[in-house]
Amino acid sequence: MPIVYHDRSRQFHLYNEQISYIFVLMPNHQPGHLYYGPKLRDREDFTHLLELGFRDMSPCVFEGNARFSLEQVKQELSVYGSGDLRHCALDLVQEDGSHTTAFEYARHVVISGKPSLQGLPSTYVDEQGEADTLLLYLRDAVLDCEIELQYTIFRDQPALTRSMKIINQGQQHVKLDCALSLSLDLPDANYEMIELTGAWGRERHIETQPLHRGVQGIYSLRGHSSHFYNPFIGLKRRETTEFAGEVIGISLVYSGNFLGQVEVDAYDVARVMIGIHPQYFQWNLAPGDSFQTPEAVMIYAQEGLNQMSQVFHELYRTRLAKGYWRDRARPILINNWEATYMNFDEEKIVEIARSAADLGVELFVLDDGWFGKRNTDTTSLGDWYPNPDKLPDGITGLARKITELGLQFGLWFEPEMISKDSELYRSHSDWLLAVPYRAASPGRNQYVLDLTKAEVINYLDAALSRILSGAAISYVKWDMNRSMSEVFSTGQNSEFQGRVYHQYMLGLYDLLDRLTSKFPKVLLESCASGGGRFDPGMLHYCPQGWISDDTDAVERLKIQYGTSLVYPLSSMGSHVSAVPNHQTHRCTPLTTRGNVAYFGTFGYELDLSLLTKEEKAEVRGQITFMKEHRELIQHGVFYRLASPFAGNITAWMVVSPDRRRAIVGYYRTLAPVNVGYPRLKLAGLAADLKYCIKEAGERNYYGDELMQIGILLNDSTSGDYTSKVQRGDYLSRLFILEVE
Ligand code: DGJ
Repeated sequence: MPIVYHDRSRQFHLYNEQISYIFVLMPNHQPGHLYYGPKLRDREDFTHLLELGFRDMSPCVFEGNARFSLEQVKQELSVYGSGDLRHCALDLVQEDGSHTTAFEYARHVVISGKPSLQGLPSTYVDEQGEADTLLLYLRDAVLDCEIELQYTIFRDQPALTRSMKIINQGQQHVKLDCALSLSLDLPDANYEMIELTGAWGRERHIETQPLHRGVQGIYSLRGHSSHFYNPFIGLKRRETTEFAGEVIGISLVYSGNFLGQVEVDAYDVARVMIGIHPQYFQWNLAPGDSFQTPEAVMIYAQEGLNQMSQVFHELYRTRLAKGYWRDRARPILINNWEATYMNFDEEKIVEIARSAADLGVELFVLDDGWFGKRNTDTTSLGDWYPNPDKLPDGITGLARKITELGLQFGLWFEPEMISKDSELYRSHSDWLLAVPYRAASPGRNQYVLDLTKAEVINYLDAALSRILSGAAISYVKWDMNRSMSEVFSTGQNSEFQGRVYHQYMLGLYDLLDRLTSKFPKVLLESCASGGGRFDPGMLHYCPQGWISDDTDAVERLKIQYGTSLVYPLSSMGSHVSAVPNHQTHRCTPLTTRGNVAYFGTFGYELDLSLLTKEEKAEVRGQITFMKEHRELIQHGVFYRLASPFAGNITAWMVVSPDRRRAIVGYYRTLAPVNVGYPRLKLAGLAADLKYCIKEAGERNYYGDELMQIGILLNDSTSGDYTSKVQRGDYLSRLFILEVE
């Protein structure tokens, strides 16, 4: 997997068996982009790809050369202040107020492996030879500032990562007004931009629109990556489908404010950028200081959206998520939130846990309401002490009772928040993010702790460590239930205020790092009012996340389908809940609720003790099924087959790496009448293996038949195996494929 530098042409070529990424040192000694796409044979000189054009009005680099303008060339690092008049990735303000810089090639280093990014989550390698990294150093001689552009190419995947570090070695104090992680100039704009967008309860819906001239983008200025946009941009060709065609996926390993945008200029060059949102960001670099941007991950796929997703899944499941739980099948859990909300006592909790244990559940999770005086959401965040009225033997006693039932025990926290009605607030009212002499806006009756303060991090570290080490706790749900406002750190000078959003994230990552190092076997599940901070940054520490507060099976089809564009099934918390559903009031069959929730990390979110005998028997069956198949579901290769955004049918499947087993989920939202003869074409199978499908007539089918013809799904007439299917709305079916 070479990273080659051609001395004569001053050209870099990063390639593996699947992709090539090529750039050159331009006549001004700055790196210019030449090519990103399917692998090309290496050769000395691709510099003809550096297209130059004479354009009236454009500022040019050299006198007497009207064709070399930074506005016209494709660049690796777009910098504001010289001749590039598009939106740029770097804006560095100097003491005299000037923005102009000239970062020229200084040297480069190629290393085997991948260095970690200080204080930030990032992808990593486990074994020698999995990836190589190019560190390209650019230097501004006037400022004595250096930039390290970091490029990693993975050996076996069409995956590249990029980030940037700015190092102030000079005597000036300089300010970063913008420091994005990636800037990529694509030579044409014939793409459609895919975004994962939504709101609370309908997170990560897929929206696609053609690129148009000008700027289009996604962002968050809420202090968390948000329900509204996920830090991901897909660029696909118009003809690209799930199974064929070109697509570039760009994802940011970060959980705070971000900007992802594509600017199509007058000459149809598409500049893609992603990174920390420059608004409300200003980072001062004193002499000797440096700033590291988060990492951007780029996937190039030639075989459609499924291939892009499969690469993301593999990379994020095995080389972004980390720790003890990374490769382990996840426990089947019961969470009491929708069963009791905050209205519970120990007796009720043990009763739910007992029926869960009886049905085969493995982990009981006690949600919000166990601490301080927390009977409503107006109080007690920050006071991480059990409420003796609800839990007379504390968390330690409850954990003992739960583990005696044969279950593991998990606990909910919302560490980053504070209620004004709390002991913590009474003793540390200056620990809020707030402007001291102005009103602070409550959100869900709570306020955000100032995680830029070391003493706040230390307090939370100690408070959580005390509970985690004092009881048999094997899982933590890490919640976060409001967006940030009045983002100001009390006691800090004005200069510091431009750092607060990002410094907060560094504080959060530090806290997560400390706790995961101290309690490596505790499984962390991230949550933010459902999926409000479901992103690659959190995934580094929390191998699974609660994807939405919306637990309705029909709604979940879209949420899970959209989420799967980037995130692996092992990261998606998905539970069966009660009907009528608490968010939509819809009643779906228990079978369908299970069939949807299987495709994730499975669990229940209802009072199992209230189920009928028949329902309990069905739940027992679901749990048995999931225990048998979770390894395949959570670690297999996932294919989207039919989109809920396109119609009434949703379908997806997972295939084992050896292709001898597969599970297909098929969902028909509303019952049609007197329809034709639908078929469902499968994917990813071995053409010449014979698969037995009990749920399709107990017959054997070759893989090629299943992929070219499909499973016959005649839902409207009776006869042979189809007579067994459910009728009515919200129908779902599972097909289990096994090579005999
Ligand atoms: C929001 C989460 O998404 C819910 O699952 C639950 O934990 C509540 N917070 C508790 O306040």
